[in-house]
Amino acid sequence: MAAFRERPGLTRVRCPTGITAWLVTRYQDVREVLGDSERFSSRPGQAAHVLAHMNPDLPIGEGEFTRMDGPEYQRFRRHFGPEIGMPKRLEELRPTVQRVVDERLDLMAAAGGTADFYADFAIPVTTTVIGGLLGVPYSDRKLFHDSAAAMFGSATSAGGLKAGTQPLFEYVHGLIRERRENPGEDAISRMIQRSAGAAEPFTDTELMRMSAGLLTSGWDTTATVMTHGLLALLSHPGELDRLRADPSLVPAAVEELARYFGGAPGLTREVVRDTDIGGHPVAKGDFVVLAVQAADRDPSAFEDPDRLDVGRPTDGHLGFGYGPHQCIGQQTARLELTVTLRTLLRRVPSLRLAVPLSDIRFKTGTPVYGPAALPVAWDAILPAEEGR
Ligand code: HEM
Repeated sequence: MAAFRERPGLTRVRCPTGITAWLVTRYQDVREVLGDSERFSSRPGQAAHVLAHMNPDLPIGEGEFTRMDGPEYQRFRRHFGPEIGMPKRLEELRPTVQRVVDERLDLMAAAGGTADFYADFAIPVTTTVIGGLLGVPYSDRKLFHDSAAAMFGSATSAGGLKAGTQPLFEYVHGLIRERRENPGEDAISRMIQRSAGAAEPFTDTELMRMSAGLLTSGWDTTATVMTHGLLALLSHPGELDRLRADPSLVPAAVEELARYFGGAPGLTREVVRDTDIGGHPVAKGDFVVLAVQAADRDPSAFEDPDRLDVGRPTDGHLGFGYGPHQCIGQQTARLELTVTLRTLLRRVPSLRLAVPLSDIRFKTGTPVYGPAALPVAWDAILPAEEGR
């Protein structure tokens, strides 16, 4: 990617899903495309270059907001964005995240001196938080875990996607019917209530798509960055020491980890009309693949970009995307990552890798890229009360 970034112009590539696209690697170019949905549409699907089921030729389904642009898209975004991104909602969520993080550490402490941080901590924490936001009990997690496996499986066919997501879609339809009658305090109930007063109320299918979208996208993304981030810190002890010495650096460290690992597989867009990207002509109907991580390692945007530096300025990084479709759950992810890092520093100062770095295996066949497991060990996990 670094070599492509240095070449003038754009690079023509053939993607794993068979589409041919322009690969965009420079920071300014990636940001320009993501920020301009009038020239660059989300219609093909955000990862049509790596996910076999994202076929740009398929018509956009009812409520399939991730493939919409302009006012049609904004109608959705304005409706469900505030339910999870509003500062008031995040402050309400903070104690829940802290409790979930503490409970998981207590369970790890009770189970012994080693654990798989990804399976035993990161996935349960992020699953509990997103389920709690939408009022879906932890015991029903298999529904949205299976849906995410189908959605983010590189080889999932269109038929496989339908089979993999249908049980969740039916379940969420049921929740919507139930909560119309008996609303609760959860985001689904609030979306239903607000929709009733909207100029153009949402259909049950549209409400279902927003809720299922959050349930599907809201846990492994964060769990993976959490795990990959911890691996990076444990293998850069100097950076971990800086955080230990000054925990006020944690929010900056979270941004640095999002810069370092976010947007891993890149994003697809389609050119709406003949135009250019950084002076290179592209034609209506062409696909472009935005190599977000290459952009976030562009030396013209970040100094010594391949170095992990928990104190660096990261303003403008693209790890959560940029422009109209930028990650709707980014504040939730930041909250979970911040609380986790702070609590690990406080309660598990002896945390370390339980195996050599070279033994860590990485996930394959998914754009949600990170360690498949992260064996960790510790001498003691301090009780939550003492550590505070
Ligand atoms: C560290 C964790 C995360 C990372 C790195 C991440 C990254 C991204 C990126 C790069 C996009 C932009 C897609 C595009 O432009 O086409 C995106 C979109 C999205 N994210 Fe996240 N995300 C994370 C966590 C979350 C969480 C916790 C949620 C839910 C609460 C979530 C829900 C979504 C949804 C629904 C979209 C689609 C937005 C749209 O197209 O309108 N993400 N995410």
